[in-house]
Amino acid sequence: MTRLTTLMTRGAAFLGSDVAIMAGAMSWISERNLVSAMSNAGGFGVIAGGAMPPELLDKEIEATKAMTARSFGVNLITMHPQLLDLIAVCAKHKVSHVVLAGGLPPAGAIEAIKAFGAKVICFAPALALAKKLIRSGVDAIVIEGMEAGGHIGPVSTSVLVQEILPEIKDQVPVFVAGGIGRGEMMASYVEQGAAGVQIGTRLVCATECIAHPAFKKAFLRGNARDAIASVQIDPRLPVIPVRALKNAGTEEFTRKQVEVAAMLDRGEVDMAAAQLEIEHFWAGALRRAVIDGDVENGSVMAGQIVGMVKTEEPVADILAALVAEAEAALA
Ligand SMILES: Cc1cc2nc3c(=O)[nH]c(=O)nc-3n(C[C@H](O)[C@H](O)[C@H](O)COP(=O)(O)O)c2cc1C
Repeated sequence: MTRLTTLMTRGAAFLGSDVAIMAGAMSWISERNLVSAMSNAGGFGVIAGGAMPPELLDKEIEATKAMTARSFGVNLITMHPQLLDLIAVCAKHKVSHVVLAGGLPPAGAIEAIKAFGAKVICFAPALALAKKLIRSGVDAIVIEGMEAGGHIGPVSTSVLVQEILPEIKDQVPVFVAGGIGRGEMMASYVEQGAAGVQIGTRLVCATECIAHPAFKKAFLRGNARDAIASVQIDPRLPVIPVRALKNAGTEEFTRKQVEVAAMLDRGEVDMAAAQLEIEHFWAGALRRAVIDGDVENGSVMAGQIVGMVKTEEPVADILAALVAEAEAALA
């Protein structure tokens, strides 16, 4: 056993993988191909179920099972109106791990998952919430810093790790996400007591990833400073920040907020309609970029490590590089 595999023993046993590296769910991206490639390579793939109706999730789990005999998880978003139906689909397929993203799970969700024997993994954006989730029975915690791609919180990974990890690492396995581009960083987190890590951006240019060639090209060209968090312009119109490569769409979003705020000032729309306008702006934008390849107007969600994504390569090679870097650092 190498030092890394020793440090990852607990996380790998929890996930049922060879190395405790999770492929964080990415909507439209984390489907059967990337998920099975990750699990087959010894990591842990996670299907992004957040944007799926139950029938689609059902098909996706079945197709993934046909492509890998290794364990994988399903990511669900807590505010999905059909959350309990999606959990029932996971139960039907005896999914081993369910990851709940997007805030505190509603009553009954954790119990419904545990009832069919699956492990529940939740995101904890602060120490108090991590403790609350553990009391509610979650089996593992992901702490994700604002360096990550996609929807983000306000705090960096380095601060969250210091604040949360020492307090809870002896109670449940903790996986660290956000800003992991090289194995040295992965090694550092597991040395500090993390059970493992979760990566996203680093996997987008995997050969097996179905993202449109234009989406991958934007990643290969992107630098850390291009992956910016969306900004809220008006305190009346809440915006959950999203980290994405800046493009015409991100500029248009700023313009849209100013326009809607002005309509609100003039009394042309009420508050609910104004907030809905803002919320709807990004609906479908990730799909537009990932699937249709419109990287100018769509949302090219990417983490700050995007500048370290240099080439399109198989998932197994990406994992091998991360592991080799981590092992060299630990040695
Ligand atoms: C394009 C993209 C889409 C994402 N979509 C989701 C999602 O649907 N659900 C989710 O929980 N996290 C989502 N994430 C976050 C990832 O699961 C992962 O936690 C994150 O990418 C880790 O940080 P990193 O990008 O610095 O590696 C997304 C990230 C990216 C880059």
